[in-house]
Amino acid sequence: MMILNFSEYLLKQGLNIDKDKNVIDYIDKNRNKAIRYYIMGKVGTGKTLLAKQICFWRKKLFVKITPDNLGKITTDDIYSWYENVDVIIFDDLGAEMLSEREKAGNILLTISRYLENSDKGLIITTNLNSDDLREYYSDRIFDRIIGQLKILKLNQPSYRKQNMEVIK
Ligand SMILES: Nc1ncnc2c1ncn2[C@@H]1O[C@H](COP(=O)(O)OP(=O)(O)OP(=O)(O)O)[C@@H](O)[C@H]1O
Ligand SMILES: [Mg+2]
Repeated sequence: MMILNFSEYLLKQGLNIDKDKNVIDYIDKNRNKAIRYYIMGKVGTGKTLLAKQICFWRKKLFVKITPDNLGKITTDDIYSWYENVDVIIFDDLGAEMLSEREKAGNILLTISRYLENSDKGLIITTNLNSDDLREYYSDRIFDRIIGQLKILKLNQPSYRKQNMEVIK
C-alpha cells in the first residue's frame, strides 16, 4: 500500500516540493485515477524527474519514448508495450528532429487511440505550450491529447541553474 503522500515521498528523497506545490498536491489528490498528464515547463524545471517520480510513487511500470529513441519506435511497439507496462512517458515532446516530427505525431495518435479504451497511463513532458502543440503537430492531435490529459505547469526557475556552481 501507498503510505506516504506524494510530497512526503518526494521529500524523503531530498527533492524540493515548494516550487510546484499545487501540482504536487493535485497529483496526490488524484492518486487513484489513471495517470494522464501533460507536464509543461521551461528547460530544467523538473519535468522528466516528476514524470518518473509519479510512476515510482504509484508503483507503476513505465517505458520512456525520448527524442533519441523515437526513430526506432513503431506504432506496433505501442500496443505491445501497453500489454506489459502501465504508463508510457513521452519525454521531451517537440525536441525531436524536424524530420521526425511527423513520426512523433503518429505515435501520439496511436497512443491516444489506445487510451480511449483503456485505463493505462500517458505522461508527456514538453517545453511546448498548447498553442505550440497545435502548431507543431495538427488540430487532430492537439484535440485528442489536450482532451485526454490534465495539463500540469511547472514553475521556473530551472533546478539546473540553481545547482550551478562557479569555481574561480
Ligand atoms: N523537485 C526537485 N528537487 C530537486 N532537484 C530537482 C527537482 N526536480 C528536478 N531536479 C533536478 O533538476 C535537474 C533537471 O531536472 P529534469 O531533467 O527533470 O528537468 P526537465 O524539465 O525535464 O529539463 P529539460 O527541459 O531539459 O528536459 C535534474 O538534475 C534533477 O535531478
Ligand atoms: Mg526533461
